[in-house]
Parts: sequence; C-alpha cells; structure tokens
Amino acid sequence: MKDRIEALTASFGASLAEVADLDALEALRVEYLGKRGHLTELMKGLRDVADKKAAGQLINSFKVDVEAKIAERETALYEEAINAQIRRAKKYNPTLTFPREMGSYHPITLATREVEAIFESMGFTIENYAEIVGDYECFEALNIPKHHPARDMQDTYYLENGQLLKTHTSAAQNAIMKKYGAPLRAIFPGRCFRNESTDACHENTFFQMEGMMIDENISISNLIYFMKTMLSEVFNRDVKVRLRPGFFPFVEPGFELDINCEICGGDGCPSCKNSGWLELCPCGMIHPNVLREGGIDTEKYTGFAFGLGLTRLAMMRYGIKDIRDFNSGSLKALSQFKSI
Ligand code: PHE
Repeated sequence: MKDRIEALTASFGASLAEVADLDALEALRVEYLGKRGHLTELMKGLRDVADKKAAGQLINSFKVDVEAKIAERETALYEEAINAQIRRAKKYNPTLTFPREMGSYHPITLATREVEAIFESMGFTIENYAEIVGDYECFEALNIPKHHPARDMQDTYYLENGQLLKTHTSAAQNAIMKKYGAPLRAIFPGRCFRNESTDACHENTFFQMEGMMIDENISISNLIYFMKTMLSEVFNRDVKVRLRPGFFPFVEPGFELDINCEICGGDGCPSCKNSGWLELCPCGMIHPNVLREGGIDTEKYTGFAFGLGLTRLAMMRYGIKDIRDFNSGSLKALSQFKSI
C-alpha cells in the first residue's frame, strides 16, 4: 500500500506540473479524487491490508495532500487567467468574463433595491445610518427610557464602550427628523442585530427597512395605502394583509401588519410558525414624544413610521424557506438569484 501511494504521489506531482489550465486541472482532480479515481481504488485496496489503521492514515494524508495541491493550483490558475484578461483589455472593460462562475447579488440586496425604487417613485428619500449607535438613538429618543420593560423585547448586543448594535432601524428616526425637519418622507434600510436564538424564521442578524412620513394631516389610512401599494408592486398582485394592534413605545396607535404566507399560501408551514400569516411590518403613528424629541412641531404635524422586515420580505419574494440560508454563504444557494 505504501509503495502504491508513493508511486501515485510521484505521478500526481508530475501530472500537476504539466497542468496548464483549469480544465486540465479538473481532469486531473477526477483522475485522482473522482468516484472511479485512484483514491477510491486505494480505499478498495484497504480490504486486503493487515494493518488497516496505518494504511488508512496513509491514504488520508495522500488525499489531503492532493486536495491541497489542487486547490493551490486552482487559485494560481484562476488568478493567471484573470490577469491575462486584464492585460489584454486595453482599458477598463465592464464585460470582462471570468473563467469560473461570477458572483451574484444577494437576495436581500435585490429586495432592498426593489423596495427602494418603489418608495423613491413615491417621493421618499433613501437614507443610510450607522450599525453601531448609542442608547439615546436606539431607545431614549424613541420614548423607551432606561429600565422600560419594552427594552426586553429587543435583546441587545452592548459593546464595552456603552454603545450597541442597533436592534432596529427606528434608531435612525431621531437623526433623520433632526436632519430634515418636517415635512419629510424617508426610508432607511439597515442591518439590525438581536441576541435571538435562531430557527427557520429568526436570526440574530437581519435587515429592516424603516419608513417615515411626516406632514400635515397624515393618518393611518396614508400608512395603509403606502404599505399596500409597495407590497402589491413587490409581489405583482394584490397582497392580503391584516392589521393587528401592536405595542411599540414610539408609536401610538401601533400595529402589526401581517401578510399572507406566500410559501404555504396560508395553510401553515414552519416559515410562518404554522399560522398562515407572517409578521412583516410593525407600524403606527409616530408618538408625539418622539416627534418632539426630533424637533418637530406636534401642533402642526403628524406622521407614520413602519419597520418593514426586509429579510422576511425577501423570503416571501423568492420563496426562501429558512432565514438562515441568507447568511450561510452557500454560493450554490445564492447563485440562483443571478437572473432576477
Ligand atoms: N422598530 C420596531 C421593531 O423592530 C418596528 C417598528 C418600526 C414599529 C416603526 C413601529 C414603527 O421592533
């Protein structure tokens, strides 16, 4: 067995030195590691060996060695191929084709852009905001004083310096009110963090899209109109929604807007906790304390705010059953979205 492995190692080294492109490398990989390759043949040979443990170890280190050398060569060849293309291209060429698969946009990026375009067409500006914020932005400016029990709903990651990872995009409300004053229409997508235990519909890192509209005579019917318009554009049809009362200290009245689960069609499945409905968009009329804290004249203006669950929306939009797939980094799963 030992001799055979040594011979194979030598012949592999010789063949590898001659490999000139990725196709040849793939052929070599199949020859050694493929189903009917030399590795399989070695494994079969184990049957006739007395010291199976020692032989098994030898085979394993042969396998690890071959795999590592192939991976190393693959990276080198890949870089060579790209560099050759770059050298050939006289100037920047956006259509540069890569020898292997290209990346694709993440479904959350696609969903974000789609929703942004819809709100933009309705006169909303798009704002960006930090992921690390202070207690003031995330809680106090939102009518959640220290020791308020509502803080328990958002299991927060605190940093050693007293700042925290924002638990919701509402953390940007105050700064945006101060930046623009009233009237104001803005949406602000962002990554949020909560110390949640994960399952098919919960993650410790997820995306929301906050929206605010502040003007004279804004009421809950404006809110419902904007949400329904957005959802029917995203799903290309009239979407069933339901409003339930919901409690958030920064809105009064507050609601939970649920949409019919697109994955099971409302029959109940793990993605919707078997209820047929998915909580998609908590919302409500902005609490006067919050408006005042943002410097808005509450005698003149009212407004609504919503916190659209972008991750949930992307799940519904693309039929993704498990929220954890978004962060899995599995290129195979994510590459399906290339053509969308
Ligand atoms: N920020 C709230 C949350 O994530 C959602 C929300 C936003 C509720 C805006 C009402 C208005 O829990």
